[in-house]
Formats: sequence, structure tokens, C-alpha cells
Amino acid sequence: MAGQFDGKVALVTGAGGGIGRATAIAFAREGARVIVADLPGDAGAETVSMIAGESGEARFVPVDVSDEASVDALIAGTVAAFGQLDVAFNNAGINLEADVWDNPLAFDRTLAVNLAGVAACIRAEVRQMTAQGTGGAIVNTSSINGIIGSPQPGYVAAKHGVIGLTRSAALTYARANIRVNAVCPGVVRTPMSAKFDDIPEIRATIEAMTPMGRFAQPEEIASAVLWLCSDGASFVTGHPLVVDGGATA
Ligand code: NAI
Repeated sequence: MAGQFDGKVALVTGAGGGIGRATAIAFAREGARVIVADLPGDAGAETVSMIAGESGEARFVPVDVSDEASVDALIAGTVAAFGQLDVAFNNAGINLEADVWDNPLAFDRTLAVNLAGVAACIRAEVRQMTAQGTGGAIVNTSSINGIIGSPQPGYVAAKHGVIGLTRSAALTYARANIRVNAVCPGVVRTPMSAKFDDIPEIRATIEAMTPMGRFAQPEEIASAVLWLCSDGASFVTGHPLVVDGGATA
């Protein structure tokens, strides 16, 4: 059966975990060859096995998105494996317990991964897409913390910044037919949010502040990302798509 990403190569960072893994699997189900990018370790290889188990095609390329040279090597590895890059989901991120106003180290690390990491990925991806001359689609993971605040200054600043990067890149590369959008999830059931899930009072608070009354499943974010990368969104660029069950409505 024809998939909507047949013949395309999709890169997903943070693909060893919740939202990234679900999105990598979704791209593969729609026919893309997928580069699963994550920190060195077993998680990325597990995602590749899951895709292979469904007869999809994927490769793991280790990366630390906070290291520009590592990001450049990721794009080189993508082209070495599959010859091109058409779609990129810049999703790797951290949410540190220590990200509070009196902890500058956590602030710096969160900005390095969640904001500078996204900028490094965009820079390297558009270089490749521009060289190909084929255009492309990029989605960056922001958050409802890119729309409203919370007591984590680094995380909130980074996620607001991701929307700024998205708009700037969309304007810069529109004539090269590279569309750049963001997805802004509410609370999603993933390893990152497990700490909220484990504490019944916090879980109840999150469910109460979400009009739909529940956490999102990673697949519900993946389907929004796939749409933004698809031909169905061919005139959508610079847009932060909120997927939050009404939490910021
Ligand atoms: P997760 O913790 O399950 O997955 C994140 C992945 O990113 C992990 O596999 C991790 O190894 C990888 N990663 C971390 N630092 C990295 C680095 N320096 N280089 C490469 N990979 C790195 O988290 P989840 O929930 O899937 O989050 C994905 C994205 O969604 C993040 O950007 C997060 O901020 C964002 N988000 C998550 C929400 C949630 O409720 N889970 C809500 C809104 C946004």
C-alpha cells in the first residue's frame, strides 16, 4: 500500500524515547526511510528494531544535539546511509528537576540542548536540503511551555525560543521551499512525564488543567507532526501547532 512518505528520508532526534520514537515509527509506517538519532546507548537501537519488526527501514545514528560537530556528523551519517534528507523532526529535549531560578547550571544545560540544539539541527538540515535543491519540511518540538509559563525558567525560555527559531527559519527558507513549523504538546505520557504520573496529586492537577481530562499519547503528537511534514500542509510554514487537549485554549 502506498505511504504518504514513500521515497522520503526522515530524520528524528530524540527517537529513542516517547514522542520521538512514536513519530519515527509513524514515519516508517508511511513509507519513509528513517534516521533514528539519539544519545549513544541502547534506546535508539530499540526503536530501529521496532521499525524493522514492522518491515520498515531505519538506522540509528548517535548524536548529542548540544554539540554542533556531532550534529554535522549526524547529517553526514544520514546522507551516507540513505543519500538524502527530506524531512526532519528536531525533538530531542530534556526537562531537568533542577531547572529552577537559583540554578544557573541547569538553565544553561537546558538552553544548550532544547534551544541551541534545535538551532544547530536546523542549520545543518537546511544546508543539506538547500544543496539537494529539493525543498523539505522541518518540525521542531516546542511545548505549551512555549506559549505560557511555568516555574522552570530554562525550559520555558527554550521552548518559547524554539517558536522564535521556527518563525525565523520559516521566513529565511520559504523561497527554498523548506517549510519550518513547530509542535507544542501539552503533557504527554512518556518517560519524561513519568515523574508526574507517579505522584497522584500532580497527575490529578495536570488532568484537571487539561479540558480533555487526560495526558496525550505520544502517537497523538506524532500524527500532528506527520501532517505538518506532509503535502497536505504544503502552504503551512512558521506555525506553532498546539496539541494540548485544550490546556491553553
Ligand atoms: P523523553 O525523555 O521520553 O525523550 C527524549 C529523548 O531525547 C530521549 O530519548 C533522550 O535520550 C533524547 N535526548 C536528550 N538529550 C539529548 C541530546 N543532547 N542529544 C540527543 N538526544 C537527546 O521525552 P519526550 O517526552 O518524548 O520529549 C520529547 C520532546 O517533547 C522534548 O523536546 C520535550 O521537551 C517535549 N515535550 C514533552 C512533553 C511531555 O509531556 N512529555 C510535553 C511538551 C513537550
